[in-house]
Amino acid sequence: RRRVLSGIQPTSDSFHLGNYLGAVKQWVELQEDFDAYYFIPDMHAITVPFEPKQLRERTRRSVAQLLAVGVDPQKATIYAQSQVPEISQLNWVLTCITGFGEASRMTQFKDKSAKAGQDAAGVGLFTYPILMAADILAFQVDAVPVGEDQRQHLELTRDLAQRFNKRFGASFTVPMPHIVEEFAKIYDLQNPTAKMSKSADSDAGLVNLLDDPKRSAKKIRSAVTDNDRVIAFDRENKPGVSNLLTIQSALTGRGVDEIVASYDGKGYGDLKVDTAEILTDFVTPLRGKVEEILADPTYLDTIMSDGAARAREIASATLADVYDKVGFVAP
Ligand code: TYM
Repeated sequence: RRRVLSGIQPTSDSFHLGNYLGAVKQWVELQEDFDAYYFIPDMHAITVPFEPKQLRERTRRSVAQLLAVGVDPQKATIYAQSQVPEISQLNWVLTCITGFGEASRMTQFKDKSAKAGQDAAGVGLFTYPILMAADILAFQVDAVPVGEDQRQHLELTRDLAQRFNKRFGASFTVPMPHIVEEFAKIYDLQNPTAKMSKSADSDAGLVNLLDDPKRSAKKIRSAVTDNDRVIAFDRENKPGVSNLLTIQSALTGRGVDEIVASYDGKGYGDLKVDTAEILTDFVTPLRGKVEEILADPTYLDTIMSDGAARAREIASATLADVYDKVGFVAP
């Protein structure tokens, strides 16, 4: 079976709507037809300021959220990155075939380090994309379902795989990004030309799945739109309206055109109220489910350790081949 893999960082108490619509929703669909690997990159999470106790809690919380939205541990292999040491071992080999200039061109590093301030940014933030390449290449995956902001990291991953294969002989599957254009970038509700992100200056435009549904509905109803009154999909000229249409389309499965047609003769108020209602219906059961799952941490830990054991089988085969190819002596 073809294989997919993806990760979501445990850097917040809740996934946001962008994480879900841009990536995790695809994970749930793909687990039906692919051999799926979904993991929590806790090692990536320590590239920014963190608290140990909170990190462990958020790792479990992230798994609980995956289960609550429909990731099925019978179908997908679920683990924390730190539980699979082969990833770190492969990371070093990949680090040594990555150019300094190549790593310096990663826009997410430039953005994040600018935000942190020159000296506050650690080297881990700089080498982050190489660890991400190791996450993927260790598993010989065909496709990686992510949002638009990960595209450049996926390109680096492909470059590194091709470079290694060329120099040392076929070793890695060269993965394709799986980016669903319509939903790959969900925008900030208050600033609809910027992506929805937990690190925005204000959280007024950010919808967390586990927030009080009333609060999230209010955020949707207060979304920035524009000064004319036409409900149409036009990202250039009507980014706010287009974002609401995208969100509604993703949550209902209806096409944007069909939704636009249904608003003939109606106004922005209707669009906002409806979108808020649709969101409310989606998030309302989630909090309870997550709390229920979290009440049994042993269950969560078992899912992760079972997943990690399966993941290590695959990653260790890749690593043994790579170590041999680069000329390390047998263990
Ligand atoms: P992370 O944790 O920032 O985000 C998880 C996923 O959510 C997507 N996403 C969005 N999609 C649409 N609209 C948005 N506004 C939005 N914001 C976030 C992200 O593209 C991502 O797919 N580096 C990764 C984690 C990672 C990983 C990996 C992913 C580590 N190793 C290996 C895939 C494969 C990250 O920081 O995602």
